Parts: sequence; C-alpha cells; structure tokens
Amino acid sequence: MSTLIKNGRIITATDDYIADIFIEGETISAIGKNLNVTATTEIDAGGKLVFPGGIDPHVHLDMPFMGTYSSDNYETGTRAALYGGTTMVIDFILQTQGKSLHAALAEWKGRSDNNCVGDYSFHMAVTDFNEDTKKEIREFIEQEGITSFKTFMAYKGALMIDDRQMIGLMQEVKKHGGLINVHATNGDMIDYLIAKHRAEGKLAPRYHYLSQPEVTEAEASGRFADMANYTSCPGYIVHLTCEGAINAVRNATRRNQKVFVETCIQYLILDASLYEQNFEGAKWVMSPPLREKKDQETLWAGINQGLVNVVATDHCPFMWEQKLMGKDDFSKIPNGHPAIENRMELLYSEGVAKGKISLNKYVEVACTNAAKIFGMFPKKGTIAVGSDADIVIFDPNEIHTISASTHHMNVDYSGYEGWEVSGKVKTVLLSGEVAIDNNECKVQKGFGKFIKRNKVGGTI
Ligand code: URP
Ligand code: ZN
Ligand code: ZN
Repeated sequence: MSTLIKNGRIITATDDYIADIFIEGETISAIGKNLNVTATTEIDAGGKLVFPGGIDPHVHLDMPFMGTYSSDNYETGTRAALYGGTTMVIDFILQTQGKSLHAALAEWKGRSDNNCVGDYSFHMAVTDFNEDTKKEIREFIEQEGITSFKTFMAYKGALMIDDRQMIGLMQEVKKHGGLINVHATNGDMIDYLIAKHRAEGKLAPRYHYLSQPEVTEAEASGRFADMANYTSCPGYIVHLTCEGAINAVRNATRRNQKVFVETCIQYLILDASLYEQNFEGAKWVMSPPLREKKDQETLWAGINQGLVNVVATDHCPFMWEQKLMGKDDFSKIPNGHPAIENRMELLYSEGVAKGKISLNKYVEVACTNAAKIFGMFPKKGTIAVGSDADIVIFDPNEIHTISASTHHMNVDYSGYEGWEVSGKVKTVLLSGEVAIDNNECKVQKGFGKFIKRNKVGGTI
C-alpha cells in the first residue's frame, strides 16, 4: 500500500516548506516537490499544515487511583488522542509497594494489550525501590524497551519514595542508560497542609489548591535537580506548573546541568480562579493544581527559552460521578483532568495563532522533543525519509468549539467547555494508514502498537 500527500506545508521542529510526502507501507519513503510516483491513495493537503504525529508522554489510562479507575481505557483514550492529532502516548505503570515491577507490567499489559487504537509505550513508576526492584531495572531497559522510570515525591503511603530510594534508583537507572521522571512536589508539606485544612473544616475544592502552594513544587524540583546532578542521572520533571519550579531548573543550568521539563496544556491556559466556584472547581482538581496568571507567562517564556521542552496533558479523566467522591472533602476528589484530545488544537490556537510560539516550536514541544528525550527519534517525532508515517494534516483556518457533547474522551464534562479554537485536525495517518478523516475514526482497537524505546542520554 502506498499514499501520496500532495502540496502540504510541512512543518518540523526545524523546517517549513511545501512538498509532497510519499509513503510506502508504514514508512515515509520520499519527500520532494512534484514527486513523480504512483500511489494507491492520494491526499490533497494544499493550504493545510502537515505536522508529525503528536506525542503525549504523560497520560493515565484505565489507571487505579484514589479508590477508582481513570475513565478512559486504552481504546477510548488512544482513539480520542488520534482525533486530536496525537498518534502516540506514553502511559504509566504503577508498581504496588511490596510487589515487583514485573508484576505491575503484567497487570498493565492485561489492560492494554490489543486494546490500543494509537501507538503507546509505558513509563515504569517505581514506588518501592529495594534490592529486588534494583535487579529489574536493567531488564526493563534492555528487554522491555521501557527506558524511563517515574518517581513520586508526593502521595505518601501509596506512591511516594524517599530521597534515599531516589538516589539508589538514580544510580541504577544511570548505569543502564535510562531516565528518571518525577512528580516533584514536597509530599510531607502537602500532607501537613491537607490535614490542617481538614481539621479546620475547610473542605471545598479550593483547599486542594491551597494545600499545594508554589513552594511545595519549587522545593522538590530543586531537590530533584540536585540529586540528579549528584548521580549524573538524566532527569525529567513532569507537569511543572510554576515560576518557583522553573527557577530551580534555571538554577541547575548554571552548572551546565540539563533537567528536562514538561508542562501541560492546562497550566499554560487555565488558572486558579477556577477553584473559586463551589464544587464545580472539582473539574480542575489535579496535582499540582492550576496556578496564577504570572505562572502561565513564565511557562510560555520557558518554552521559548528552551527550559520547558514538552507540552503534555497528564490526561487522567474521571466522570463527574467519580469526582463526587470528594463532595464533602477535597482530599477525596480523584485528582486529574481530561485533555488528551484537546492538547494539539489548544496549543496551536493559544500558542501559535496568538503569536506566543512559532510553528517550529509548536512541533518541537508537541511532537519532537518527547521522541528525542524518550528514545524514539527519528522513528517518531518528525517527518523525514525513514520515519514512521505518523502524520497530521491540519487546517489552520477552521474555527470550532470544544464541548463534552462532541468530544471522544470517555468523560461527561470538558474542562474547556465552550472554548473557541482556531485550527482543526482534519486527517491523521498512523503507520501509513488513514486513522482519522473528517471526524471519523477508520482504525480499530489493536491497530496501535507498543513501541519499544531505546536507551536515552541527558541531552537533546
Ligand atoms: O492530578 C493528577 N496529576 N493525576 C494523575 C496522577 C499524577 O500525579 O500525575
Ligand atoms: Zn503527577
Ligand atoms: Zn500524571
């Protein structure tokens, strides 16, 4: 099977030109002006932007969390991602404390195998680092193609590890060519503030926000950077939200240390005023919480300064019924928010269309850097001869409105209800197949492949 995409404006992290793309099987085999080839299928991309498939390296599908499961499973979540131009996601396996990493892998495979519509991989969250776990790190990197290990500096008693475990894990991961990603907030400070607010009868969603002030994230980000520097281990801070945390990373650059930073679309465009509503604010109860307008400005600037490398989602949806678990106590509201389908369009609309970031920067933070950081480039993350034919054809002029009544995520509200968005994903190719066309999904569950990843370094 072959496909010819004609006359699109091809945007990569570095290039911007009009050309044809010829795809044979799953791979891009030629790019050029007026290619003289015959293809089974021809797609006219005249007047459209052509991006590499988006990569969202931070999603939680069908994940057991806070006494329930996130409401998108591997089928609904990866399909919604495709509708929004994200052709690959990286999800998180969570080790159960006291059990092995392999036991968790088997459990996650049980839910994901043959169920994904789009491509996927896993980070392995290590919640209990000990002599047994230590032996498994190398096998994950060399045999499973899982080269990134997630750590939590918060959620004590469930997911959090202490600094002693962190240092040990970093040394092991560094030795075998992996990377540590981290939820960098100070779990003990947060637990103290949660307990204090509850004791004072302060139970509304906005106390979730007030229990995680900026300092909890700034402190943990700096501590993580110091430990990564000490062990020379490549580090990646997930869902960074605020000025204090980015300043900790900026500080680390003074000793020529590179700490990769991810923010999420919601932290760029939403702010903490949403918690002022009564229980409605539960829609945006996530950790870390939404911050202030000044933090949004810092994050946009951080993207342009090369300090923020990736824009992800931390997609972790819960139905309203599930959010109601915390109607009398903010600490019981399942943490997380849906965005897997909205990321690429919102980032284009709020970032490129409003002049905050360039088209090349857009592709860099939405597609390319995740592929580079997590060991998949140039198979993923770019449009080049030999790369996987994961391609998004995008109409920059179409204006549409986000609504839970039209989105494809398995969640009954949208955190962006009524947002008018400039630019729309029209056609998505995954492994050379048309997966989405004019709002219709053409591929089934099982089409998405598990992508084994390579060892990683600390630079991009
Ligand atoms: O609120 C969030 N972020 N939920 C998912 C778990 C995590 O911390 O990433
Ligand atoms: Zn987190
Ligand atoms: Zn997360």
